[in-house]
Amino acid sequence: MYGENRGETTLMQDIKRLVILGCGYVGQRVAQRWLEAGFQVTVTTTTPEKVPQLEPIASTVTVVRGDDPDRMQQLLADQDGVLVSIGAPNRQEYRGTYLATAQTLAQVLPHTAIQQVIYTGSFAVYGNHGGHWVTEETAIAPTTDNNQILADTEQCLLQMARPDRSVCILRLGGIYGPNRELLKIFRRVAGATLDGDGHQPSNWVHIDDIVGAIAFAQQHQLSGIYNLVQDTIISRRELLERVCQTYNLPPVQWNPVVPSNRPHNVKVSNQKIKTAGYRLIHPDFWLPIPSDA
Ligand SMILES: NC(=O)c1ccc[n+]([C@@H]2O[C@H](COP(=O)([O-])OP(=O)(O)OC[C@H]3O[C@@H](n4cnc5c(N)ncnc54)[C@H](OP(=O)(O)O)[C@@H]3O)[C@@H](O)[C@H]2O)c1
Repeated sequence: MYGENRGETTLMQDIKRLVILGCGYVGQRVAQRWLEAGFQVTVTTTTPEKVPQLEPIASTVTVVRGDDPDRMQQLLADQDGVLVSIGAPNRQEYRGTYLATAQTLAQVLPHTAIQQVIYTGSFAVYGNHGGHWVTEETAIAPTTDNNQILADTEQCLLQMARPDRSVCILRLGGIYGPNRELLKIFRRVAGATLDGDGHQPSNWVHIDDIVGAIAFAQQHQLSGIYNLVQDTIISRRELLERVCQTYNLPPVQWNPVVPSNRPHNVKVSNQKIKTAGYRLIHPDFWLPIPSDA
C-alpha cells in the first residue's frame, strides 16, 4: 500500500518513541503507519472529546496545545522524535497555532531527548514566481501575512537543528486523498465562473505520499527543506476540466477581466526528495470513480 519505501522497523531501532503533535487528516494516517511499524506512538489533540476516536491508532493520546510549555515539556520529555502536523482552525489563528507551537518547541526541546523534528509545511511560502518552477533553493516570497507566519514557523523550527537533532521541513502541495477527493474539493465550483484565466499551476500531493514521505524522512533522518508534490502539475483550468469531465459535472468558466487573487503562482519541483530516494506512490492525479456512480 505504501510503495517501496519500507524498512523502518529494522533500520530505526534507536528511534522508538514518536509523538504526533496535531493528529488530523495527516497525523492519523501517519500514526497508523508508525504503530504498524512497531513504534511507540503518542498522538495529541486539543479536543478532549476526540480522545476515544484516536485511542485505536496510538499507544497514548494526550490533550495538549502546542503553545502550552508545561504540557509540551511533559509530552516530549522522554520521546525520540516529533512530527508537527498541526493545522490552524481558521485564518485568524495562524500565529497562535503554527508560530506559537514552533516557539514553544524551541523553548522545551533543549530539556528533552528529541533527535528528530518533522514538520508538514506548505508550498504557499514560495508566493508568486509568475508560474515558474521553484526548488528548495528558490528564495521564498510570501504574499500574505499568514504565509509569512508559515515562513517564520519554518525558520524557527530550522533553528532547532543540532548535530544530534535533525529538522525536516516538508513543503506540501494541496492535500487530497480518500475523504478529501478532488471531486469533493471542486464539486461546488462546477458550472461557476471563476476569476482569472486559470493558467496558474496547481500543485497537489496525495495523502499516501504524505504518509510515505514522512515515514521516509523519519527512517532516513532527512534534514532541511523538501518539497512534496506529485509529478503532474497542470494549470487550474486543465485540472478543473479534467475533474468536471471525469465526474460529468458542468464545466467551469473563467473571467480573465477580474484578476485571480490566489496568493501563490509557482510550479513546485519535487526533484530533491526523489533524488534523496523517495518514490512517489501517486505521481499523477488520483481520480477515483465513486462506487455509487
Ligand atoms: N490542506 C492542505 O491542502 C494543506 C496544504 C499544505 C499544507 N498543509 C498543512 O498540513 C498540516 C496537516 O494538515 P491536516 O489536513 O492533517 O490538518 P487537520 O486535519 O486540520 O488537523 C489539524 C490538527 O492540528 C491540531 N491543532 C490545531 N491547533 C492546534 C494547537 N494550537 N496545538 C496543537 N494542535 C493543534 C488539531 O487538533 P484537534 O484534534 O483538537 O482538532 C488537529 O488534530 C497542516 O499544518 C496544514 O497547514 C495543508
